[in-house]
Amino acid sequence: MDQAGLDELAAALRLQYEWGADEALLEAPVDRFAALDAARAAAEAAAQAVVPEPAGAQALRPDAQRQAPAKPALLASVAEPFTPNLTQAEALAAQADSLDALKEAIRGFEGSPLRETATNLVFADGQPESGLMLIGEAPGADEDRLGRPFVGVSGQLLDRMLASIGIARDAADPKDAFTITNILPWRPPGNRTPTEAEIALFMPFLLRHIELVQPRLIVLLGGVAAKGVLRAKEGITRLRGRWHKAATPLGEIPALPTLHPAYLLRNPASKRDAWHDLLLLRQRIDDAAKVK
Ligand code: URA
Repeated sequence: MDQAGLDELAAALRLQYEWGADEALLEAPVDRFAALDAARAAAEAAAQAVVPEPAGAQALRPDAQRQAPAKPALLASVAEPFTPNLTQAEALAAQADSLDALKEAIRGFEGSPLRETATNLVFADGQPESGLMLIGEAPGADEDRLGRPFVGVSGQLLDRMLASIGIARDAADPKDAFTITNILPWRPPGNRTPTEAEIALFMPFLLRHIELVQPRLIVLLGGVAAKGVLRAKEGITRLRGRWHKAATPLGEIPALPTLHPAYLLRNPASKRDAWHDLLLLRQRIDDAAKVK
């Protein structure tokens, strides 16, 4: 095994230890990697037997071949309740032809009072060219102070979790990196949960963000992100643990809802579920690399 493999194993072990798995409970060791490889091989065989094209290949094809965007219908469906502010958000988002332009468009958008109470705009962090986009809920106090998403305690936990599967926002190789943003770019006062109206109002900016980044995979951190992007009624505990299809201006993109790291800090027993989701993500990244 090379150094990168050893580092990845060490990070996974460190995470397990931090999460309280500090004892071996079985007499004989279980080779989880062999089990994972067997599951992958079975899934590949099943996919080849049923469909000629691997799952998710549509989203992995060159842009020109992707399904044509259904932008007007998509935005219209998100546009409840309809307001002049929403129309303005849609127009500003549509005009932004780069990530920098989008960031400035959001900064200049006066249609939400959140802008008045927040200190800094929190747009995105990480590497947009990585192909992996994580979406959280809204900035907290630390993010508001520093103007970067997921830099507080829950962000640090998230970074450790992702490091355990070999992914980091500052990775030297973009294929081992991710970009991260939130449903809301401004901190709601007192860290309250975003309202439906706030989520709808900022959705045109998020959809444009996705369109500009062109991610191959999306991870939705927590119920607000999962319900907002998937437009689902179910809660995160029902949505998590399996891949969904997010309807975006680029067509459908595979999206994995998982538990929010802040929830994991409050509910350590759920870290087991989070670990399961991390392995699903790792597997999908590896599969996507094979298809390329
Ligand atoms: N929680 C979020 O959902 N986003 C952040 O940026 C920080 C904490």
